[in-house]
Amino acid sequence: MRLRDAFTPSQPVSSTKQFAGRTAILDGLIRAIEDQRLHVVLYGERGIGKTSLLHVVSQLAEEAQYLVRYVSCGEESDFGTLMRSVVGTIPLLYHADYDPTDEEIEQGTSLDSLLPPGPVTANQVCDIFSRLSGTRLLIILDEFDRSPHGNFRRIIAELIKNLSDRSIRVQFVIAGVASNLAELVEHIPSVRRNVIGLRVPPMNAEETRELIAIGEEASGMPFNDKAADLITTIAKGSPYLASLLGQHAAIEAVERDAKEVDASDVAAGVRIAADEIEQRISERTVKAVKRAFAEGNSVDLGTIACLAMANGGRLETRGSGLASDNGRECERIVRDIALADDLVVPLGDPDEGVYEFREEGAPAYIWIRLTLTQIEEHGRPMITTG
Ligand SMILES: Nc1ncnc2c1ncn2[C@@H]1O[C@H](COP(=O)(O)OP(=O)(O)OP(=O)(O)O)[C@@H](O)[C@H]1O
Ligand SMILES: [Mg+2]
Repeated sequence: MRLRDAFTPSQPVSSTKQFAGRTAILDGLIRAIEDQRLHVVLYGERGIGKTSLLHVVSQLAEEAQYLVRYVSCGEESDFGTLMRSVVGTIPLLYHADYDPTDEEIEQGTSLDSLLPPGPVTANQVCDIFSRLSGTRLLIILDEFDRSPHGNFRRIIAELIKNLSDRSIRVQFVIAGVASNLAELVEHIPSVRRNVIGLRVPPMNAEETRELIAIGEEASGMPFNDKAADLITTIAKGSPYLASLLGQHAAIEAVERDAKEVDASDVAAGVRIAADEIEQRISERTVKAVKRAFAEGNSVDLGTIACLAMANGGRLETRGSGLASDNGRECERIVRDIALADDLVVPLGDPDEGVYEFREEGAPAYIWIRLTLTQIEEHGRPMITTG
């Protein structure tokens, strides 16, 4: 039972106690929000730790007396509904035109009563926000990549622009899976001055070790150095993979009545983790990956999987300077293997030579399968790539 709460690969971290590392990006976020008063677009790969970061930022902002509203977007997201739900939780007390003794305030009425019925425009919302007083509002829109393209995103961008032009103390933090700012909020260029993009990078080794240490502490099950090193190597900076491997390895150790987790538990954990990840990947991708592995292309595929994982999902086949070696190698693998197996697609204009995996979970799947194959063949992962 303690193990289940110690490593939570299927859930974002919700408290600062469980939160490992990330001081640089957290500092950047706080500076952008507090000092620079910018809106923030937080982007990165699936499972890199965006939501966990947002939870910690929310907590810190509330401690600093911000009103924080967290919304998870979806395909059905609609601007009017979203804004009504946000302002519907803000009491009229914070509106400059109302007095604490007004009847509406005593009745607990909220700001949504000021919105007219029917569709809501960015201007109407902005007008209400312009009258906020005695507080600062932080609106967090997570999973923005899942929100509908077109109107929804355009109107959010318009609201951000209006808020900035009028120096209104309402700030947005928009987060989602993307490899850059423009990919997530395509209408942002005109408002760029007021918006900062922050990429959530892979964790460094020290941060991954801290994640494991927090799990050790919470579960009471220590990991020996070899086991912790192995997880750190295999996780490649992904807190999701580190958490998943940590959990399965610790369960293995408990099941064999051991006092500490060792490398063999990690190896067993990799096997279970690989099966678990496979279940979340489409059959089509699984088949294509297995075919490529059977044809002897596992290391090549692993190479571009690592490049994608380190680069927010992007595969750049035309690097210059130092990156050009990587680029050429990447181009060869993309052209000869990944495109042939239909695993990757061009990102934007095909002439630019940038690709991404067709399925966003594919890089982690390929990587864990490669690790598994190597453990089975050599007793340990032969980290030759990345
Ligand atoms: N700083 C951290 N400390 C400890 N664990 C973390 C940290 N960041 C992320 N994790 C773990 O990694 C996993 C993925 O984190 P999270 O859900 O925050 O990522 P995400 O980027 O929001 O993913 P998605 O793109 O799927 O929404 C979770 O299991 C979480 O517990
Ligand atoms: Mg998330």
